[in-house]
Amino acid sequence: MSKTIQALRGMNDLSPNESPLWQWVEGQLRETFATYGYSEIRSPIIESTDLFKRGVGEATDIVEKEMFTFSRDEEKESFTLRPEGTAGCVRAAIEHGWIYNQEQRLWYIGPMFRYERPQKGRYRQFHQAGVEIFGIPNAEADAELILLTARLWEKLGIRQHVKLQLNSIGGLDVRTQYREALVAFLQNHLDVLKQDPDSERRLTTNPLRILDTKNQALQALLNHAPKLHDFLDEESKAHFARLCTILDDMGVEYEINQKLVRGLDYYNKTVFEWVTDALGSQGTVCGGGRYDGLVAQLGGHASEGVGFAIGLERLVLLVQEINPHIRLPRTVDIYILHSGEGTTSPAFRLAELIRQAFPHLRTMLHTSGGNFKKQFKRADKSGAKLALVLGENEVAEGTVVIKDLFGESEQITVQQCELIAELQQRFSQ
Ligand code: HAM
Repeated sequence: MSKTIQALRGMNDLSPNESPLWQWVEGQLRETFATYGYSEIRSPIIESTDLFKRGVGEATDIVEKEMFTFSRDEEKESFTLRPEGTAGCVRAAIEHGWIYNQEQRLWYIGPMFRYERPQKGRYRQFHQAGVEIFGIPNAEADAELILLTARLWEKLGIRQHVKLQLNSIGGLDVRTQYREALVAFLQNHLDVLKQDPDSERRLTTNPLRILDTKNQALQALLNHAPKLHDFLDEESKAHFARLCTILDDMGVEYEINQKLVRGLDYYNKTVFEWVTDALGSQGTVCGGGRYDGLVAQLGGHASEGVGFAIGLERLVLLVQEINPHIRLPRTVDIYILHSGEGTTSPAFRLAELIRQAFPHLRTMLHTSGGNFKKQFKRADKSGAKLALVLGENEVAEGTVVIKDLFGESEQITVQQCELIAELQQRFSQ
C-alpha cells in the first residue's frame, strides 16, 4: 500500500459532523450583518506581498515572521497568502472606487494564513469574518460595530462569556511621543526587559507591543510605565469619550485596558477586543479598531476606516464549550426507503416531488439497495424525522407509508396524492 498523505500542520479539515455547527454560526453572522445593512465582498486569497508590508506594517509579527510568501521563477513578483482581510479589502475598495467620496459598510468571510505555532485556537489556516466601515470619522461608527458584535454574541448564546476590552491609542504623533517616553522608561529597566527576549527585540522594532507581554515581571514593571492616555490629543480624547458615552447609554459593559495596542500597525484612536477565559490562552475571539490613515497610505483618496475581524475557529469552539447540546437544524428531514420490483423510479419521482414542493426540507433517497431492515438502520442513522416507505404493494396501490422515526406518532399509510398535505402539516409544527 502506498504511503498516505496527511494535512499540513495547523491546517484543518472540516468534517461532516462539524459542518452543521459552522453553517449555523455562519448563518447567524450573515443574518446579523444583513440586519445592519452591510454588503458582502469577496477578494482574492493571494495578494502582492507589498500590500501587507505597507498595510499591516514591516515591524509587526505578522509581516516579520508569519506570512506564507512565495514567487514563481519566471516572475519577479512576490505573492503572499493573505494573513488578514483588511489590507485586501482596502486595496479592492480603492481599486474599484467603492469608497471614493462615499460611505461604505462591508463584510467578508474566508480563510486567512499565518505561519504560527499551532495550538488550540491558533492555526496556520484559519477563518475570519470581518467587517469594515469606510468614510465615517464619527465615534458612532465604532459604537455601531461594537453593538453589532454584542448582538451576535447574544444570538449565539455566548454574551455572558465574552468581555469587551477597549482603548484609544490616539494618532501617529501621540504614539511617537509615547513610544519615546516608553523606550526611555524601559531603558532604565533593561534587567527586567532582558527576561523576555521578544520584548527586548521589540524595544527597537515595535516598542508599543511590549505592553502585550505575557512575562509577569515585565507586566508588573509596566504598571509603573508612562500611560498612553496621558499623551492623548484632544480629538482622540473626545472621540473616545463619545464612544464610551454611547456604549454606556446602550448598556454595553467594557473595560478600558491601556495596554491594549493590537498587533497590526494601521490602527489609530479606538482599538478593541472581545476576550473570553473559556478557551485557554487563545482567548481573543474578535479584534478591531479604527484605521483612518490606511486608505491614503495604500494610495487611495483619504477615507476613514474602522472594522473588526472574528476568528471563526475560536468562535465555534466557544459556542461548543458554552452550549455543547445546541440544537442544530437536521441534515436530513425525510428518508425515502424502497425495495422490490418496479419501486426505483417511483421512489426517485417521489423524492423529486418532495424537493420541488418543500425546498427547505432535506430529502434523502436510499440508493444502495438491501432489505428494509438495513434501510431503516440507515434512515435512523441519518437523523431524519420521517421515513417514507415504498414497497411493491404501495406502488401498485399508489400509496406510501409514513413512519415517524422518533416514535412521536403512529405509522400510517396515505394515498400519494395526500402526501404533500400530510408533510406540510408534519413539518409546520
Ligand atoms: P487580528 O487581531 O490579527 O485582527 O485577528 C482577528 C481575529 O482572528 C483574532 O482575534 C483571532 O480570533 C483570529 N485569529 C488571528 N490569528 C489566528 C490564528 N492563527 N488562528 C486562529 N485564529 C486567529 C485582524 O486580522 C484585523 N484585520 C481585524 C480588523 C479588521 N481590524 C480592522 N478591521
